[in-house]
Amino acid sequence: MNTDKAECGHLTEFSAQLARQLDAYLTFQHPDAMQQPDTWRQALAQPMPEDGIGIQAVLAELGEWVIPNGSPIPNPGCTAFITTGATTIGALATLAGSVAAPQRLGLTAFNFLEELSLDWMARMFGLPEEMKGLYSSGGSVANLVALGAARQAAFEALGIDPARDGIARPCRLYASAECHHSVQRAAAVLGMGRRSVCGIDTDQQGRMCPAALRRQLMADQQTNLLPVAVIANAGSTNRGAIDPLREIGETAAAYGIWFHVDGAYGLPGILDPRVLPLYDGLDLADSVIVDPHKWLGAPVGIGATYVKDRELLNRAFTQEAATYLEGACTNDVAAHSMDNLGIPYADMGVELSAPSRGAVVWALIREIGVAGLRERIIRHNTLARHVAERADAHPNLEVVSAPTLSICGIRYLSDRWRDLNELNRRIHRRMVQRGRAIPSTTLVNGTLAIRPCFVGARTTLKEADELVDEVLAVGQEVAQMNDEAAG
Ligand SMILES: Cc1ncc(COP(=O)(O)O)c(C=O)c1O
Repeated sequence: MNTDKAECGHLTEFSAQLARQLDAYLTFQHPDAMQQPDTWRQALAQPMPEDGIGIQAVLAELGEWVIPNGSPIPNPGCTAFITTGATTIGALATLAGSVAAPQRLGLTAFNFLEELSLDWMARMFGLPEEMKGLYSSGGSVANLVALGAARQAAFEALGIDPARDGIARPCRLYASAECHHSVQRAAAVLGMGRRSVCGIDTDQQGRMCPAALRRQLMADQQTNLLPVAVIANAGSTNRGAIDPLREIGETAAAYGIWFHVDGAYGLPGILDPRVLPLYDGLDLADSVIVDPHKWLGAPVGIGATYVKDRELLNRAFTQEAATYLEGACTNDVAAHSMDNLGIPYADMGVELSAPSRGAVVWALIREIGVAGLRERIIRHNTLARHVAERADAHPNLEVVSAPTLSICGIRYLSDRWRDLNELNRRIHRRMVQRGRAIPSTTLVNGTLAIRPCFVGARTTLKEADELVDEVLAVGQEVAQMNDEAAG
């Protein structure tokens, strides 16, 4: 009996059904998944089926139980962390790649767009001409790849190939104390250890202090630690701070150390002429990362690493020869798309099988152009400034961290509460439960801030205003509750 009846076509019919369900989801009328979790959990927690139910029934279950109980992240009022829903073209291009080019390899239009879109992004974000890129699943892996290149360069200078032989010397990475914690994990995965990351002090605005960096570098010269990289933020996760790139880059160069810039979130900010000067010194970077799945509205799973010398990535990440590849492809013949692997991205990072992400980024840029993306970046930065202005103007609000880019930290003030961190924590929890405006929080020099980060393509001034209104309304309610409890 033939039981493999997997549907492998008829996308027109089935995707139209799915699209209707998704469009309904995007009206954001549904209750949150946790309002009635038992219903969908019970419906979904079926025993593993020996016999399938067929695509129609699966689509029906997707529509009834799964999609309506998805995430609030695509909602324009969700400004938590640095995350957003995909735009339509991003979702559609992902579908196109998954069907027409399930691997990025081969002499296909998808492999071609991988390189073209990486080059477009490099030009759009003002990276030096010689920088070449590589896609991976996101900022964490993009940082790992960049620091793998840094490690390779540092050891090769000593005549050692760390990718082949491993490392037998303690290393040091110098990063802003506000660096993303994927930097520590990358150090661990690369065998240098989380403790090799030395956190350099930041100023009141969360920017790395070059003088503190110089002091640390000087002190470490007396040790056996091998300096591997200096890591600066172009848009820190907490506050969107941009480190003084030129001074840090020049310091790294003076010590002969690899200079890495983490622009996972903030690199696209360079499109806003109001903050463009803050990116001065980007040209000094040996590696830079950016996440199209943050500000560019790509579906999650797309980060990019750029390096000035992509050969180094090859040496840092190449796999040994594999018999199943020998003779299967050649660089000499290009008569068929499977004659040749195309640009061998698999040898430059940590993924062999990988989706065609380039077509997605190409589609995002092609749809609205640099002008459209610039407008989005400027709009979001303006929203963060608007939140700060409203907070400054209201007696019950305070700006905890002023925006550089599209993140603003604010808090509610009440003389009824001594512990304002606790008050704001409760306000935030209550806001999340109400679901009208969903920011996240952070600690800024010990002060808890309610922290919206505007990156969603759907997010406008309306949502920024609703967020401030909601902090005020919930703040008044929660501050009162304590008053009543105390009284
Ligand atoms: C500055 C920075 N670097 C790296 C990352 C990690 O990115 P991802 O979540 O895509 O792995 C983030 C995530 O927010 C980030 O803000």
